[in-house]
Formats: sequence, structure tokens, C-alpha cells
Amino acid sequence: MPCHAVKFTLKIYRAAIFHTPRNPFLAANGVVAYADGGLAVENGKVLDCGDYSSVAKARPDAAVRDLRGGYILPGFIDTHVHFPQVRILGGLGYGLLDWLEQLTLPEEARLAEADYASSIAREFVSALAAHGTTTALVFGSHFTGATASLFSAAEERGVRIFTGLVLSDRSLRPELHQTPDDAWRDSKSLIERFGSGRYAVMPRFAMSASEAMLTVCQTLLREDSSLRFSTHINENRIEIHETARLFPWAADYLAVYERFDLIGARAVLAHNVHAGPTELQRLAAQGASIAHCPCSNAVLGSGIFPMGRHLEAGVRFALGTDVGGGTGFGMLKEGLQAYLMQRVAPEPMTLTPAQMLYLATRAGAEALGIADQTGDFGNGKAADFVYLRPPEDGVLAGVLQRLDDPDRIVAALFTLAGAESVGEVRVEDRAIFNRCGI
Ligand code: GUN
Ligand code: ZN
Repeated sequence: MPCHAVKFTLKIYRAAIFHTPRNPFLAANGVVAYADGGLAVENGKVLDCGDYSSVAKARPDAAVRDLRGGYILPGFIDTHVHFPQVRILGGLGYGLLDWLEQLTLPEEARLAEADYASSIAREFVSALAAHGTTTALVFGSHFTGATASLFSAAEERGVRIFTGLVLSDRSLRPELHQTPDDAWRDSKSLIERFGSGRYAVMPRFAMSASEAMLTVCQTLLREDSSLRFSTHINENRIEIHETARLFPWAADYLAVYERFDLIGARAVLAHNVHAGPTELQRLAAQGASIAHCPCSNAVLGSGIFPMGRHLEAGVRFALGTDVGGGTGFGMLKEGLQAYLMQRVAPEPMTLTPAQMLYLATRAGAEALGIADQTGDFGNGKAADFVYLRPPEDGVLAGVLQRLDDPDRIVAALFTLAGAESVGEVRVEDRAIFNRCGI
């Protein structure tokens, strides 16, 4: 590469920098912090991350972007969020099955209309970006056209998403059902069009999938090892009871998916609030991950996630907003809610700021099998980051003025920072969101 090209692309972002390159649940790993940090980036990749003085000294030719006064964190990774549910956020007062029937499925049916679906797709990816989310495992639509619109909108915006056609052939409403044959054909056509590396096979949940439909999922996954798998599990007691009725041969909820070889390292299962003891052991042995969605668990009254039991069993988990069962797109808010609920859980635990940051970033990358590409600022990873710059006249800015301990700063950001504090968001160093004036 000629010298001038190197000069042109080499940049250093200067700000306070926080990340969690090591799992803070496994050892006493705290937040890795640089109060005056430098993030050197070239061609969309991290070259170096450390104290500004040493990062800059090694690269005297780099262009420096001075962002002091704010905080650079790895871009958030949302492991469970529903694209067709943006417009039903705020629907309080329901349990899961009533919420689906009365609020959610009627809205999801509206995505049959192509123009509406593509406007919702743009609205959805804009919301991800505006909240600092750079990667998401997104529950798509039951409609092929709407799911294609989502892939296109995310590609255009530059948000890294994994998604797919949602598959169901019973228990919902006729407009949302496909036959297993159509599900196979339409999934194949989307995989062909958008590539298998970003595609996830997604039966909505066991209740809405016949054995023939789960066999289609099995076939799709068997045919292509780069596909991911995502669905719901053990969210709500009535749902669990109904699942046992529909699959009388299954010893528990997980056994339904296991029968069709759907559980393994590429599986991300949402909720698992009411997990049985052998289910946890089997999930750990199979290397599957849980998308923990504490806001949704509270809104829908699903229950309190048994985090301690997941940790003891060695089951991986990361955070998901579960829009629209949850309370919005904010991953900081989701981390705070995880903290709050574990404080009052029957077997309470106190999450550290490092654990909250890890759950919102690197843990998601691990769940998706992309921790070698994103989730922290290790050398060679994608320059995916969120720049937080709390409004100067706000409460958070005042709180931060007093703090210099990195754990206290991260705790304050999780407690008080919302979308108004997101200044800029970059994926592979390309801006996907920029607040005017920064
Ligand atoms: N189970 C099946 N569908 C859904 C959904 O849309 N949201 C949640 N939270 N759980 C589900
Ligand atoms: Zn969900």
C-alpha cells in the first residue's frame, strides 16, 4: 500500500476508553480503562488501544480526532430484538400470550404490506444505531418481503445484523402461518439472496411450530453450517404448560428443540427464565447461549432470570432488549435492569460494572460466535464503537464531573445514560449515527 494511503486511513480517536476483553464472571477482571485513551484505527480495524500518549507516540503520522469529554465503549450487541415490534413498545399490563394475541401479532400481520414493512425496517435500524447498538441478532418477520427489507435497510445503514424469516405454522393467526414447504423454499431464497453468514433460522417458539416445521429448521441447519439458530424458551409458565401439552413426548421444553438437533454453539435462545436443572446442564454441554432480556421479563411478568444458576452450570448468556416486549432499544438500560432484578432475586447477586459492560458487548459477540471480530478493542477487531457524550446541562454530566474511578464511571453511565447521551456510533469505523454538533 502506498504511504499516502496509510496516512489517509490511519486515525486515532482520543477519549476515555472502556472495554472488557476478559470475562469478568470468570475471574476478578475489571473494566479495562484508559482515562486519556487512544483508539488507533486503520481500514475499519483496531490497530491499537491504550493510553493516548503511547498509542500516539507510535504513530506520529496519524490523524487525531479529539473526543475528550466523552467515553468510547465497544458498540453494544443486542442478542434478541424483534424488528416488527417497534411500534408496539409501551404496551404494558399483559402476560406473554395475551400480549401476543392482542397487541403483537396484529401489528406483525401489518408487515404483509411492502411499503409499511420497509418503512418499519428503516425505523428499526435507525433506532438500533441511535442507541449505540452496532450488532444485533434480530427476530425478523413472518413475511419474506419484510425480512428482505430488513436485510436491505441494515446493509444500507451499516448496522451488523443477523436475522431470518420467522417460521410458524400453528397457534398464531392464519396470516402469519406458512406451510413447512413454503418455509423451506422462502428461507432458502433469502439465504441465497443475503448470504448464510448473517442468516438465522427462527421458529417463533415451540408452540407455534409443528414437528414438520421443526424438521424444516433441522434440514436448513444441517445443509449449511454457517447458519445461526434462534428462538424462545422457558419464558412464561402458561407457555411452558402449553408446550408440554403439544409435545407430550418431550421431558421438558429444551427437549423439543433437541429432538430436531437445533441446540448447539450456534443457538441463541431467548429468556430461559424457568429453566429446569437438567436443561441448564444440557445447554452448557451443547455450548448454546441465552439472550437474557430483563426489561421484557419484568414488563410481561415472566419472572426473574436465574442468573446464578446459569453461571453455576456454565451456560453462556448475554443481553437482549426484546423490543417490543421490553422497554426500548437501550442496552445500557437493559444492563441496569439486569442489575436491578438480580439485586432483588430470590438468590440475589450484585453485578459489577464490568459484568454489566461485558454483558452488553463482548458476551453478545461470544454468543454469536464473532468474538474474534467485535465486542472489545483487541487488535485486528472491527472498529465498532459508541461514543457517549452526555448532555452538558444534564444530571449525568454533573455526576461524572466528580468521578475518576472507571468502575464508578461505567456504573453511572449504565444508571443514567440514555439515547440523548449517544454522540456517535461507528461500525468498522463507518459512522452509522452522528448527533449534530459532535
Ligand atoms: N414468544 C413467542 N413470540 C414472542 C415474542 O414476540 N416476544 C416474546 N417476548 N416472547 C415470544
Ligand atoms: Zn422475543
